[in-house]
Amino acid sequence: MEFVCSVCQKRESVITRKPKCDCGGLWKLDFTPPRFDLDKVDKTEWSMFRYHPFMGLYSDAWRDISMGEGMTPIVRLDENVLLKMDYFMPTLSFKDRGAAVVVAHAKAIGVDKVVQDSSGNAGNAVAAYCARAGIGCEIFVPEGTSPKKIDMIRAHGATCTVVPGSRDHCADVCRAKVDQEGAYYANHVYNPFFYEGTKTYIYEVYEQLRRIPANLVIPVGNGTLFLGAMKALEELEAAGCIDTFPQIIALQTETCDPLLQAMEQGLDEPAHITPTPTIAEGIAIGRPMRGKEILAYAKKHGVRFVHAPEDRILEARAALAGKGVYIEHTTAANYAAYRRYCELCGPTPDTLITMCGAGLKSDH
Ligand SMILES: Cc1ncc(COP(=O)(O)O)c(C=O)c1O
Ligand SMILES: [Zn+2]
Repeated sequence: MEFVCSVCQKRESVITRKPKCDCGGLWKLDFTPPRFDLDKVDKTEWSMFRYHPFMGLYSDAWRDISMGEGMTPIVRLDENVLLKMDYFMPTLSFKDRGAAVVVAHAKAIGVDKVVQDSSGNAGNAVAAYCARAGIGCEIFVPEGTSPKKIDMIRAHGATCTVVPGSRDHCADVCRAKVDQEGAYYANHVYNPFFYEGTKTYIYEVYEQLRRIPANLVIPVGNGTLFLGAMKALEELEAAGCIDTFPQIIALQTETCDPLLQAMEQGLDEPAHITPTPTIAEGIAIGRPMRGKEILAYAKKHGVRFVHAPEDRILEARAALAGKGVYIEHTTAANYAAYRRYCELCGPTPDTLITMCGAGLKSDH
């Protein structure tokens, strides 16, 4: 198992602390898991790490760090829609899937302090797992981040720096610190181990249902759930567990949609856009650093991008709350986008939507 540069193909040991290749390319993990097989799932482990035989893990440091993340239920909403309750997590969002793996890796290679930028949820997750691992942590969030997310980060003992300006600028400020001070970048976009965690979203769905629904609704900001899901679906397909690739319905906001626009224009790279504010703070990514990779998967598998209409997000949130499901604004965008998709394409049965962030996070 090694890192390989996505641009120049240079190889590097996974114990490196370099956030990316010297050429500027992001690392990918060169790891081919064994053929997926439910019989090989570690049934003694009651967390997403039960899939450890299929995850690229450098060590078993996760055993001391896991907080039972994953194993989230699938709940029927109505005759067409299933909800995967990924906010039933230690820090109340799906980001725990990736953060548990990244922080376990940092611990295994002896890192004593990490930095990370986030719209809030990835920062919450990294701060919590660092607290558990005894690793120092500094999180950068953009101004306007939900105060509850900032409170959670600080409660775990991390420093939380609020950066004026956009989410993309916040990432630039954090990355400058990484470059200047050599801090370890426990980042959900750059660090390839994060995706080994988000892959488990799909493994779980398959173990729970013994099949993959025909349609999967996935939000895409930096695409960490999207990329993990695509990797895992390709693994399931290669193992003969699924015959057909599901229809992926990827969503972005109307005010920040560089990937949706790239798909419409047939581009290989994210379109150049200037984001304007959205209440779906978690997907407000104007420059997704793995955009090329996301678009390559999207073209290969016929992914359809759809907008979450800004003026329908609160209504979608209220509709789900009215059925007992209380999610944050960014996650309500997933349901708003599904409804939009049905308006455009007609009734869409057998759809699984991720409920990936808890409602209390965005209440203020
Ligand atoms: C609740 C929620 N949904 C979706 C996303 C989007 O994830 P990504 O940027 O990895 O695509 C985030 C990211 O912070 C989030 O917090
Ligand atoms: Zn390189």
